[in-house]
Amino acid sequence: MRDDLLDSIRRELKRSLPPERYLHSLRVEEESRRLAEKYGADVHVSGLAGLLHDCARDLPDDEVLELALRSPCSRLTERLLKNPVLLHGPAGAVLAREKYGVEDVRALQAISVHTLGSTEMTAEDKVVCLADYIEAGRDFPGVDRLRALAEQDLDLALASALGCTIACLVEAGHEVAIETVLARNHLISVTDKTNCKAGDPPARELGEIAG
Ligand SMILES: [Fe+2]
Ligand SMILES: [Fe+2]
Repeated sequence: MRDDLLDSIRRELKRSLPPERYLHSLRVEEESRRLAEKYGADVHVSGLAGLLHDCARDLPDDEVLELALRSPCSRLTERLLKNPVLLHGPAGAVLAREKYGVEDVRALQAISVHTLGSTEMTAEDKVVCLADYIEAGRDFPGVDRLRALAEQDLDLALASALGCTIACLVEAGHEVAIETVLARNHLISVTDKTNCKAGDPPARELGEIAG
């Protein structure tokens, strides 16, 4: 039953998405499942959300906006409403429910928050967000460090990934969504506690990656 649903979703995504986006979605699905198994998140929910995370990514801005405005999962600030590309997460959650028949709120939330992050991320949210950064097709400076961190600590790896995004946006002179900054700060506070117990301060790791 679950496999039938996944197969029909894959068929529809293949029809709807540009080829490269479809292949990226398959790789994020695979990486989400792998990370979910490693970190105790729900493997099916994570894979489903990974598969559908970018289902609204290539829609026209007005359609993304229309979908996102119906999303119960997120607060839409004025800044977000002016940047529809940042809304493809919440828009994708609405599309996943209405077009692809996904009812599991855990999967819908993971799709919704994958772009910006949040301070209340579940294990499934974190796994999908991180998988989006490190799936096998990704190639950017620092990705190998992120992949290595992903084998050690989910929170630290995701904090570092969000730090990379923030650093890139600052470097390019763009605004940084406050949700992403808050999500990173929250993850750092969590890893601080974890790593203090282990006697291994994370600040050095984060500094090396995020600059
Ligand atoms: Fe995305
Ligand atoms: Fe993606």
